[in-house]
Amino acid sequence: MAAYKLLLLPGDGIGPEIMAEAEKLIAFLSAAGVASFETEKGLVGGSAYDAHGQAISESDMALAQSADAVLLAAVGGPKWDGVPYDVRPEAGLLRLRKDLGLFANLRPAICYPALVDASSLKPELVDGLDIMIVRELTGGVYFGEPKEITDLGNGQKRGVDTQVYETYEIERIARIAFELARKRSNKVTSSEKANVMKSGLLWREVVTALHAREYADVQLEHMLADALGMQLVRRPKQFDVIVTDNLFGDLLSDVASMLTGSLGMLPSASLGGEDAATGKRKALYEPCHGSAPDIAGKALANPIAMIGSLVMALRYSFGLIPAADAIDKAIADVLAAGLRTADIAGPTDKPVSTSQMGDAIVAELKKTL
Ligand code: NAI
Ligand code: MG
Repeated sequence: MAAYKLLLLPGDGIGPEIMAEAEKLIAFLSAAGVASFETEKGLVGGSAYDAHGQAISESDMALAQSADAVLLAAVGGPKWDGVPYDVRPEAGLLRLRKDLGLFANLRPAICYPALVDASSLKPELVDGLDIMIVRELTGGVYFGEPKEITDLGNGQKRGVDTQVYETYEIERIARIAFELARKRSNKVTSSEKANVMKSGLLWREVVTALHAREYADVQLEHMLADALGMQLVRRPKQFDVIVTDNLFGDLLSDVASMLTGSLGMLPSASLGGEDAATGKRKALYEPCHGSAPDIAGKALANPIAMIGSLVMALRYSFGLIPAADAIDKAIADVLAAGLRTADIAGPTDKPVSTSQMGDAIVAELKKTL
């Protein structure tokens, strides 16, 4: 049986509580003979700072480098508001993204039938929604040079950010989108502002050429980012995979997340390049939400985003597709049976705790695996 190396980074706030639920699933998958996992646990964020003064240690970075995948819960909290900039909790996350070369951020927006009422849109617009936003994560205007504020000497200042994309950066992110689409509904919407931005024009050229060369079987459409923003709230089910740059992806993925209701439901994956020798990609899986200090330690946290992040690891790092599908189905079934943590509970629901939700998903899974 194949063994996969997983580094678990519970982090801060509700992090350890939701990670405990993902660990129940890991233990179950091992016991059921689906796969064997070698797990290590490390520290990241404020808890790492408290332990040794860094947001992540060199030894935990080395574990992250050698792992097949990293599963992170969340970092941060008011306790660390005053710590120096370079060791603040988020620095641990940024270090992981940078050192592992994670250039592709995958954020699914899935609307479970049982939760259509949690959406900010009408139920019929989101029922069955299943889209994947692929955001470029290491380039674009957040990183381009020059990036500065200069004093013009006449009482005025000038703030400059620069959007830069090179062919290889666009090709590798588009490739991920096309590969994903082939495993889904075979459609990619590529988004930029080719009408007003040179980097957008290049983006469109490169995506079009790659499509013609290698992915002609996938349906490709181009949509300007502002139009896409409108369509996302008007008729979101028209989309399958959306690929876009760092800035537009940041905005559009946050909009898409609200189509599904609760933050506590949303996983994410960040992928790096393929190792030429092994074909493996570096990967980090984490919920979209933060450390929720307001509910930490109260057994109120929804573990589904964390468990969904594990599911993405099974799917994209380990190729354990039947197991990933089975857990997704167990989550949908548990929700359909009416189980709710407080964040997704309606006025008449009696909410369950973090561990009750985790246990119910494992129990449901036992019926199929
Ligand atoms: P947050 O995502 O932690 O919380 C926003 C709201 O959603 C809160 O009311 C929280 O209780 C609720 N919530 C979040 N996850 C939930 C879950 N699993 N179940 C039930 N309710 C949930 O964002 P906030 O409050 O802005 O930030 C809190 C801390 O987290 C800050 O220190 C922030 O820097 C950090 N943060 C960390 C992130 C990460 O680790 N990737 C991402 C976003 C924020
Ligand atoms: Mg954002």
